[in-house]
Amino acid sequence: MNVQKLIETAKILVADNKGLLAMDESNPTCNKRFAKLGIPQTEEARRIYRELIITTPNLGDYISGAILYDETIRQKKQDGTPFLQVITEAGIMLGIKVDMGTKEMAGHSGEKITEGLDGLRDRLKEYVQMGASFAKWRAVITIGDRIPSRGCIEANSQALARYAALCQEVGLVPIVEPEVLMDGEHTEERCYKVTEEVLHTVFNHLYTQRVMLEGMILKPNMVLSGLTCPEQASVDEVADTTVNCLLQNVPAAVSGIAFLSGGQSSELASARLNAINLRFKSRSPWALTFSFGRAIQQPALDIWQGKEANVSKAQQALLHRAKCNWAARQGEYNAGIEGTEA
Ligand code: 13P
Repeated sequence: MNVQKLIETAKILVADNKGLLAMDESNPTCNKRFAKLGIPQTEEARRIYRELIITTPNLGDYISGAILYDETIRQKKQDGTPFLQVITEAGIMLGIKVDMGTKEMAGHSGEKITEGLDGLRDRLKEYVQMGASFAKWRAVITIGDRIPSRGCIEANSQALARYAALCQEVGLVPIVEPEVLMDGEHTEERCYKVTEEVLHTVFNHLYTQRVMLEGMILKPNMVLSGLTCPEQASVDEVADTTVNCLLQNVPAAVSGIAFLSGGQSSELASARLNAINLRFKSRSPWALTFSFGRAIQQPALDIWQGKEANVSKAQQALLHRAKCNWAARQGEYNAGIEGTEA
C-alpha cells in the first residue's frame, strides 16, 4: 500500500473548493431517468449523454473528480477519443463505482444489502490499470417502521470496510458511502439517530479492517427531515444537525467529507452545503464538499432531452450547478449566483 499516494489523492479530491461529480448511475437507473423524459434507453444514448457531461467546457475549474460506471469508463467520444483521456485532459481525476448494486436482504424485509465483494480485488486492479485514482461503494439504509435493523447496518458497514481495505491495497482512494435515505415521514431527529448509529458502526468496521482514515473520503447523507414529514427542518437546522452528527461520529483523521444529494433539489442541496460551510468551515477538521449526482446533473438532463440542438445549453446548466456548489463550499452561494436576484 502506497500510503503517501493515497493521502495525496484524497487531499487533491477535496482541494481548491472543488467537489466530485457522481455520473455513475447504473444502466437501469440511467434508463429510468431517460424514460421519464422520453429519451431512448440505449447504450448509444447513454454514451452521448456522458460525452455531453465530460466535454463541458471548464468543468475542471469546479470538479476535482468524476465517478464513472463500468460501461462509461470503457466508452469513447464520437470522434474515437477514449472518455478516460477526455476526463484526464480536463484536469479531473477518474473514479469508478465498484459495488454491484443493492439486493433485498435475506431475513430483513424492506432492507437492502449491497453486493460486489466477490472478485473485487481483480476488478480493482483492472481499473487501476485503466487510470482510476479512486472508487465508490454505496450502502443504502432505509428508515421505516422498526427499520433499520442492527443486522442491516452491521452487514452493510462490514462490506463497506472490506471494500475500502481492498481499494487501499491497490492504491485507490475509497469513497465510503453509507446513505441513509430521505424517503419517509420520519423527523430530522430520527434521521440524526439513525445516521449516528450507521456512522458509528461504519467507523468501527473501518478500524477493524485496518483502513487508513487519511486515505479515504466519507460520502454521507445530510441529516434531513423525511421527504413527507410535515415538519421540515430549516437550512440552518440541517447544517447544524448534520455537522454535529459528523463531529460526534467521524474521526478527525478522515481527509474529507463529500455529501451525496440523495434526491434533494439542486438549489436546496447547494443552499444546505453553503450553510454547512458558512457555519462550520473555520472549525471543521475535514473539508466539507460535495459528491452530487442528481443535484448537478438533473437540470442539464431536463434541458438536453436527448436532442443534439440542446447540448450546449445543457452543458451550461451543468457547469452552473458545479459552480454553485463550488461557491457553496466557500459559503458564497446566494441568489445572485443562482441568477434569481430581482
Ligand atoms: P445523488 O447525489 O444523486 O444522491 O448521487 C450520489 C451518488 O453517488 C449516489 O450513489
